[in-house]
Amino acid sequence: MRTLELRDGVVRMIDQRKLPQELVYVEIRDYQTIARSIKEMWVRGAPAIGAAGAFGLALAAQASQATSADAFIAELTRVGGELYETRPTAVNLGWAINRILKKVHGANLPVRELRELVIAEAQAIAEEDVALNQRMAGFGASLINDGDTILHHCNTGPLATVDVGTALGCIIEAHQQGKKIHVLVDETRPRLQGARLTAWELMQYGVPMTLIADNAAGHYLYRGIATKVFYGADRVAANGDVANKIGSYKLAVVAHENNVPVYSVMPTSTIDMSLASGSEIPIEERGEEEVTTIEGVRFAPLGVMVGNPAFDVTPHKYLTAIVTERGIVYPPFKENLLRIMDSAEG
Ligand code: MRU
Repeated sequence: MRTLELRDGVVRMIDQRKLPQELVYVEIRDYQTIARSIKEMWVRGAPAIGAAGAFGLALAAQASQATSADAFIAELTRVGGELYETRPTAVNLGWAINRILKKVHGANLPVRELRELVIAEAQAIAEEDVALNQRMAGFGASLINDGDTILHHCNTGPLATVDVGTALGCIIEAHQQGKKIHVLVDETRPRLQGARLTAWELMQYGVPMTLIADNAAGHYLYRGIATKVFYGADRVAANGDVANKIGSYKLAVVAHENNVPVYSVMPTSTIDMSLASGSEIPIEERGEEEVTTIEGVRFAPLGVMVGNPAFDVTPHKYLTAIVTERGIVYPPFKENLLRIMDSAEG
């Protein structure tokens, strides 16, 4: 089961807003709807957003009426810009769009072949995501021991990627290897990705879990119940600072205070070596209704002022290791990330 796929010219994706009540696929035929699906979070999670952006370009390439290569490239560049604007923090979106545009710019081919090139590259991005997540799951699972109780934040499972997942992929892999583990699932306010998506996914895989309110995490860390913290990343700066779902920072600080290791798991496409530190990572601010309502029911007073940053930055000093498809990276992160980013894929 893929979170999203491009088949016969149509993008099919799980509408994650409907889970866990219903497992519904939507069919998308134009890039404008792909842009909407990213912005409104029918699809979410850094690698899944990257694949969605790539498929958006593929749909635009398919529909293009351009008769010259120059006009085709100009059109795709404009569409890439529009898709890029939808969500600013997860760097995978820009990474996937740039990868395709770079390919097209360097190709020197007629429009018909350029169109094929865009579609093939988008498919490659999606296929590679599955393979590298599988590899990463193996590395991450090696950090998990029999008897571990793992605190997990947000959703980083198959739904956050094309398939397999990032941090949750490691946890599911450890379970499938026969390790006796338990997962404490942060509900992840305000959008409840933990309660709605992670709990659902872990139940599909039969991984023992307990759903907790975000505010309970400190209690489980202080009492020595949680033995590890695992979460994903939406963008990692060159020094190892990690932007991830809002609340990750607080979790890492409390874990650090209680000597509980913290692991952040992401493909190398989430690492942005152009940013020196996490303070440069753009943080998406989302609508106030995510904070003032649950499932459309308002509980906060009308007119209240709301802040809703979707992500925060964990300074690298709170991380025990960063897990990628190229291996596990330990401090000093600045040197070791540079080394891993320079290394050949695989
Ligand atoms: O706002 P979301 O649901 O797209 O945020 C997702 C996360 O923060 C994930 O933890 C992150 O993308 C990394 S795991 C794929």
